[in-house]
Amino acid sequence: MKKFEKVREDFPLLKRFVYLDSASTSLTPIPVVESMNDYYYNYNANTGRGNYKIAIKATDKLENTRKELAKFINVRDKEIIFTKNTTDSINMVVNGLKFEKTDNVIVSSIEHHSNLIPWLNLKNQGVKVKTAKNNGDYEVNPNDINDLINENTKIIAITHISNVFGSLQDVKEIGKIARENDVLFLIDAAQSVGYIPTNTKDINPDFMAFPAHKGLLGPVGAGALYLKEEIAERLMVKNLGGGTVTNVEGDGFRLESIPYRFEGGTSNISGIIGLGRAIDYINNIKIENIEKYSQKLTDELYQKISSIENIKVYGNPNNIHHTIAFNIKGLNPYDVSKILDETSNICVRSGVHCSIPSVKNVGAESGIVRASIHFYNNLEDIQKLYDALKLISQMV
Ligand SMILES: Cc1ncc(COP(=O)(O)O)c(C=O)c1O
Repeated sequence: MKKFEKVREDFPLLKRFVYLDSASTSLTPIPVVESMNDYYYNYNANTGRGNYKIAIKATDKLENTRKELAKFINVRDKEIIFTKNTTDSINMVVNGLKFEKTDNVIVSSIEHHSNLIPWLNLKNQGVKVKTAKNNGDYEVNPNDINDLINENTKIIAITHISNVFGSLQDVKEIGKIARENDVLFLIDAAQSVGYIPTNTKDINPDFMAFPAHKGLLGPVGAGALYLKEEIAERLMVKNLGGGTVTNVEGDGFRLESIPYRFEGGTSNISGIIGLGRAIDYINNIKIENIEKYSQKLTDELYQKISSIENIKVYGNPNNIHHTIAFNIKGLNPYDVSKILDETSNICVRSGVHCSIPSVKNVGAESGIVRASIHFYNNLEDIQKLYDALKLISQMV
């Protein structure tokens, strides 16, 4: 507990704001910002190209992040492809796979648009998207996915933790179903990596997409795709150019090995170095402690908010992770978040949360208010939100 109070010093914004919007982007700790400055001040060279000292140092640092990230999620180093963000990672898969007109894809009814719109766009190629419904608690039942599979199913693409309701999906079971049916499996892990321990080997997906800037406390503009080595040849490279080939002869070329064939052009070097520092930071605290403490805060947040008359909290209290969705009856969610900001410097998000199907599920036409935490929050933050919401709810 004391340890967690101490970390707050690394997040200067917490002195001015009650920040409860980490599901959008988390705050970046000072050591991570410093590591990126250090790159610009001291070894600001490109990676994988020059053989002078600072170029070698930049390359080593970038590759070190790859190693650390691979270890963090328990995969092989070469299975980590650096991208811009989760959306970029998912699009790399959607656009890299070859589809037949008869193929279908399975998603769920609680997907973020980043794991929905790219798949829906495949309808131009004749591909059908099937949607697994959720139970009333915004959880996807693996059996419902199983029921949707047929001989033309190419891939199952499912969120790990819902960005609206915080519900955790049984990805291990879904992965098992995918393998039994010889179907590819992608996990949108934007809301799980860095929040809960992720043993990718154990879950065994083919692809997993996540950003640096949420659970992992890294900077914006960097992310990763885990790509299982065994299926790498099935993914076409769409971003060809510098760094992606080993030879060019006449009008042909030979592709680099993984991951480099997928990392065309200059990477977000400082961002990736910052991500490496962020992983160190998390390892220092230990992901198991982060999960435990965050769950304690989440449970407290749920208890407090749901005790207020006039507030409807969505989801199953036994399966809510770091993100709580609610509405005050009779008030527009945008007004709620605006009042929280204006009166109390409390930052929460309201609206459709890039997941219109999720919000439609709830039947809340004007959207939802969402409070989300990370381990740098504390019980005082939750009390402040509770006090402010109580006052607002009495305005109705
Ligand atoms: C579940 C989920 N998927 C995808 C995304 C998109 O992430 P990014 O902004 O890193 O592309 C988000 C962002 O909130 C998310 O929560």
